[in-house]
Amino acid sequence: MHDLNQLNAWKSLNNHYNEIKNISLNKLFKDDTNRFNNFSLNFNNMLIDYSKNHINKKTLSLFKNLLTEININQKIKKFFDGKKINFTENRAVMHYLLRGSYSKNNKKIYKNDVEKSLNKIKKISDKINSQKLLGYSGKRIKNVINIGIGGSDLGPKMACEALKYYSNRKIHLFFISNIDPTNLKETLRDLNAKESIFIISSKSFGTIETLTNATIAKKWFLDKSSNNNLDKHFFGVTRNVKKAKEFGINEENIFPIWNWVGGRYSLWSPVGLPISIQIGFNNFNKMLEGAKNMDNHFRTKPFENNIPIIMACIGIWYNNFHNYETHAIFPYDEYLKLFPNYLQQADMESNGKSITKNNNKTNYETGPIIWGDKGTNGQHAFFQLIHQGTKIIPSDFIGFVNSLNKIDNSHEMLLSNLIGQTKALMEGKSENEVKKTINQEKNNGINIDSIIKSKSFEGNKPSTTILFDKLTPYNLGKLIALYEHKIFVQGCIWNINSYDQWGVELGKELSHEVCENLNSNKINNNLDSSTNGLINFYKKTRS
Ligand code: F6P
Repeated sequence: MHDLNQLNAWKSLNNHYNEIKNISLNKLFKDDTNRFNNFSLNFNNMLIDYSKNHINKKTLSLFKNLLTEININQKIKKFFDGKKINFTENRAVMHYLLRGSYSKNNKKIYKNDVEKSLNKIKKISDKINSQKLLGYSGKRIKNVINIGIGGSDLGPKMACEALKYYSNRKIHLFFISNIDPTNLKETLRDLNAKESIFIISSKSFGTIETLTNATIAKKWFLDKSSNNNLDKHFFGVTRNVKKAKEFGINEENIFPIWNWVGGRYSLWSPVGLPISIQIGFNNFNKMLEGAKNMDNHFRTKPFENNIPIIMACIGIWYNNFHNYETHAIFPYDEYLKLFPNYLQQADMESNGKSITKNNNKTNYETGPIIWGDKGTNGQHAFFQLIHQGTKIIPSDFIGFVNSLNKIDNSHEMLLSNLIGQTKALMEGKSENEVKKTINQEKNNGINIDSIIKSKSFEGNKPSTTILFDKLTPYNLGKLIALYEHKIFVQGCIWNINSYDQWGVELGKELSHEVCENLNSNKINNNLDSSTNGLINFYKKTRS
């Protein structure tokens, strides 16, 4: 286990940063006419162009040294061998097993557990899709409502949205996550209980939001129906089979999951049941195959050709040397609109840590703030700041060459925006160029000299572009696994445990304490003055 600041390659990267920090992207392109070929990779109908980043060959070779120094190959091996790398919870991290990427150490788990679970996913999703699953009254099931939060919501919700095109549209999927009752009330308002099934998805079966919503949903179902049997309408995905049974779910309807699947990496497991229902098991399986393909790429390709590794290094370069604090994700595809939200949990819950594996406080930055939105909407909202603000925001632009919904030339315009934005961010527009064009415009009485600076762009803003041939289940699997492995590599470099999430616990505990105080009628004075003030305002104002 290393001390990052003491590593030779880290020190060399620091010196190298000082050497190249003032070289602009425009200059890098001018000096190397082959820059695109030198800094892009093709991998089965997928292109990653990382040439518009502040790197040169030396940057990458120093990162290669860094990875050698931290012995990344051994870490990748330990991960794929199923060693307990999540040491604060004493667990292995093996979500890759769910897509068949086993090694000889964990092949048995795949054969005994995962295959069985996949068969069960297939069985139930086939039954629902062929409309053979009937509710207690004999009516066919039309609505599937997933109740879960965090990884038990974001992954399946994102993938169901992303792959909606492949749905047979016979089943309507809904996701309830928030403890705000509005979420549940608005979802159930127009649904017929006889035509609806619920999937209660919670690895722990102890998450307060999920249990509260599941209990209200159960009451709603029992009130609306003339039977008192949940068997045909309630399913569970959990590690805690006992608690799911106590809740009233028939064991036959429970999909067990394992402690080696982290919540935010669980969409490949039965947590992904809604995805299989939405797009059919064959397509779900293609998504797993795509992810497996990326696992293989990650495990076997050398540094120079390894996409997750390169993306991880570029991210570290900006986060730790340039000190850029955020990283934006811009999918130029309506179907991928939830991808940035999904990645927020995947990345920030994994790498938002400040204690190293050596049990020390880090003296360097770790995980960046991940944010983003679909293109082109973002262009008309926050791109102003990216182009002309004071902050530099490295961004990933994700797009698909062929549209699933071709109408006239809208898709070409969408892609032109994607490519055009990355070019504009990099090149900018000089004051001279502005002057040339502004003279030709009518200036409406404005003094031209006073607006030239406002209309010019510094450029030099970095971005990475990922293009696929088409949005398919296979390609989505690849894309998600790419980011999973990027997160893994970054966690290895920062020497942190990417697979626990203790940071969400304190808020949970305190909300229990506040809840007890909200429920009493006395004026609050036992907590800090701000919390007392908020609670007392609530007490005075509640109706
Ligand atoms: O928010 C913390 C967290 O533990 C996430 O990591 C997890 O995905 C989510 O809660 C839901 O947990 P569970 O599936 O156990 O309900």
